[in-house]
Amino acid sequence: MMKIGIIGCGYIGSVIAENFKDEVLACYDRNMKNMEKISKIVNRDINCSFEKIIKMDLDLIVESASVEAVRDLVPKVLENGKNVLIMSVGALADSQLLSKLKKLASGNNCKIYIPHGAIGGLDAVKTASSLGITKIVLTTRKNPEVLGIKIIKEKIVFEGHASEAVKKFPKNINVSAALSLAADKEAYVRIIADPSVDTNIHEIYVEGSFGKMNLIFNNLPSENKRTSILAAFSAVNLIKSLKSEILIY
Ligand SMILES: NC(=O)c1ccc[n+]([C@@H]2O[C@H](COP(=O)([O-])OP(=O)(O)OC[C@H]3O[C@@H](n4cnc5c(N)ncnc54)[C@H](O)[C@@H]3O)[C@@H](O)[C@H]2O)c1
Repeated sequence: MMKIGIIGCGYIGSVIAENFKDEVLACYDRNMKNMEKISKIVNRDINCSFEKIIKMDLDLIVESASVEAVRDLVPKVLENGKNVLIMSVGALADSQLLSKLKKLASGNNCKIYIPHGAIGGLDAVKTASSLGITKIVLTTRKNPEVLGIKIIKEKIVFEGHASEAVKKFPKNINVSAALSLAADKEAYVRIIADPSVDTNIHEIYVEGSFGKMNLIFNNLPSENKRTSILAAFSAVNLIKSLKSEILIY
């Protein structure tokens, strides 16, 4: 049995609680109502302050909150020797924060786990990266409402590197940071607001000394339209892998 804590009790936090009812021992959110939802799911009062959760005897803390929580809270999680699973991976497009968290993890003998999130194929991208990647492009297509934009005709609303994309759309383009981390090279990102779609579509193109790779994900959104169901369950799958005898990479 794994002892799990959750920081961020929204959609993804609820999915973790549903899937690991006995193993989720603590949760923290700045929104009391959301924290109470998780306690209801697991049928126990597991609401915590942030100060308490980082001191508890836990094997893993799941961050399912925000880019800001990764910046402000995750360093303290690692300082307290806790392994952390990061959902708001867009935060790691900030290279200074990334190296700070890596240093804290190694200094405190803990690990940072990044699930594949709303895309997949990161295993193959990682292997391609060790062979040499020359081009990596992510094209994301979402409904304008999900992006927080009001337009009636399809439009490219962003073109540039992943680190800039996550600054402009911190709640929508975590995938660009996960892809860049796997590739060890910043992905070039294009975001298209398209009123005709109601799914979250990510197309990845990678070119290098291995050959070429095309990956397309057409994801159904969850009750939180910005978050794909696949992304929440990537965290569930990662936790299951941590407990499994067989690891598939
Ligand atoms: N890696 C991926 O592919 C991927 C895909 C989808 C979502 N995400 C990210 O995962 C995170 C959670 O997604 P969700 O759909 O569950 O969001 P959500 O909005 O449903 O829930 C987020 C919860 O975190 C809480 N929160 C946010 N910042 C906080 C802070 N600083 N301190 C305490 N509580 C805080 C909010 O009150 C809310 O209850 C988001 O950052 C989202 O961008 C990543």
